[in-house]
Amino acid sequence: MSDHLTVVKHPLVQHKLTLMRDKGTSTASFRRLLREITQLLAYEITREMPLTSRAIETPMEEMEAPILAGKKLALVSILRAGNGMLDGVLELIPSARVGFVGLYRDEETLQPVQYYFKAPDGLNDRLVIAVDPMLATGNSSAAAIDLLKGAGATDIRFLCLLAAPEGVARMKEAHPDVPIVTASLDRGLNEKGYIMPGLGDAGDRMFGTK
Ligand code: URA
Repeated sequence: MSDHLTVVKHPLVQHKLTLMRDKGTSTASFRRLLREITQLLAYEITREMPLTSRAIETPMEEMEAPILAGKKLALVSILRAGNGMLDGVLELIPSARVGFVGLYRDEETLQPVQYYFKAPDGLNDRLVIAVDPMLATGNSSAAAIDLLKGAGATDIRFLCLLAAPEGVARMKEAHPDVPIVTASLDRGLNEKGYIMPGLGDAGDRMFGTK
């Protein structure tokens, strides 16, 4: 991917995102919509995965048919809201290995604090897709990418549902080599670090917590 930021404007993505933003949307619908949108965004983020070909026989004749070149994939969820995006990608790429980065945001400083890190082996050989629905200040996303690079990852992409300009700028400064794919670039952050207009706290909305 060459662009640092890709906003997927597909009508299905935008329609589903509007339903997710609506505060009247139930927890069950929010979760289902997040899974569906994630699949559509994953389609975009995997667009340039290398293909090779394999000789097969259709019922009609032999052919050389395209098939994924077999670059291994690691999907990394930034806890906890990233977990809501795992199933969507795994339905498309069931053989992906899965890692987890646990960071919470200190509500005073807005800085990330690490509490968990577990990644699949051989990150250096894998396309790594880090998932977190909300790219807000970008502090935790940049810290998560730091951890992944420290564990050997070199080919990393970041998949989110909403991005704030502040978060995109932070990521571009810290990790200009990590392309971001999102469904929307929103207006900005409020004083508490929430994305505006946003959709509120993604974790609370998908897990029904407050
Ligand atoms: N995390 C969220 O869940 N929502 C925001 O708006 C910002 C960070």
